[in-house]
Amino acid sequence: MSTSNGEAVQTEHLSKVYKDFWGRDKVRALDDLNLTIHRGEVFGLLGPNGSGKSTTIKLLLGLIFASRGRASVLGQPAGSTRINERIGFLPEESYLYRFLNGEETLRFYGRLFRIPSRDLKKRVPALLDTVGLDEKSRKRKLREYSKGMARRIGLAQALINNPDLILLDEPTTGLDPIGTREMKDLILSLKAQGKTVLLCSHLLADVQDVCDRITILFKGKMQTIGEVRDLLQVKDITQVQTRGLNETQIQEVRQFMSRLGGQETTITHPTTTLEDLFVRIVRENTPDNAATPPRQA
Ligand SMILES: Nc1ncnc2c1ncn2[C@@H]1O[C@H](COP(=O)(O)OP(=O)(O)O)[C@@H](O)[C@H]1O
Ligand SMILES: [Mg+2]
Repeated sequence: MSTSNGEAVQTEHLSKVYKDFWGRDKVRALDDLNLTIHRGEVFGLLGPNGSGKSTTIKLLLGLIFASRGRASVLGQPAGSTRINERIGFLPEESYLYRFLNGEETLRFYGRLFRIPSRDLKKRVPALLDTVGLDEKSRKRKLREYSKGMARRIGLAQALINNPDLILLDEPTTGLDPIGTREMKDLILSLKAQGKTVLLCSHLLADVQDVCDRITILFKGKMQTIGEVRDLLQVKDITQVQTRGLNETQIQEVRQFMSRLGGQETTITHPTTTLEDLFVRIVRENTPDNAATPPRQA
């Protein structure tokens, strides 16, 4: 973890208007974004396609310039070279060299960050373990990788410089439910290591259970921000769950509720999400734990 002060990310009135060839305003991609992401937090930037999520990430990395407002990252203006060395970035589409294998790819990016070979010898296999690429896949050329494997090697590449802040653009796109769950477990393990994660996604359900806080963007404007638990909680409804009641007792509970003045009482059996169900079925039917989450390095 870094010792310098400052929030992980802070934006003030951050706005981006893309111009057309003639310099005329074309698309207002981001409009007056005021955002603070604390260190050690997993923050979700959610919204449908075209809502300005990738634009926000590019502004934070200094890949494009703001039309108005400003952004600071790890206490420095966005785009400072020294800061970018402490950021890991998984783009929406990873442009990796198709003819390198997984191991070579990580060594290549490690050299770009001037990491000594001695350190890379240890770090590369550890990262490949972390993202769950086995011995066989790490020797295969990237052009043979499935979408899920490409996402994993992309994430390993984003982590090669042991960054403090990790920006993940649509990390679960193209992954099946098991891959999605593993990606979420990885994000949680990054948080456990004290890292800050900003993730963008249009797949709301995919990320709701890993984010501490989220904001929803729509047409470049921030619609809402808050803790996931609070945003999803239906405040005027109390839910009680219990096991082992028979029908008569359930009737008694119902009568008790109505004596207390409770209205529209429903007593049901809880449901699980389709994702949980799918993951459970696959795990139960997979021999020798092949589908368990990847080991941590
Ligand atoms: N380089 C660009 N030039 C012009 N318009 C762009 C450019 N990049 C993105 N846009 C537009 O800006 C809006 C926001 O895009 P983006 O940030 O990629 O959204 P998201 O990542 O949420 O899908 C969209 O309407 C998109 O078409
Ligand atoms: Mg995008």
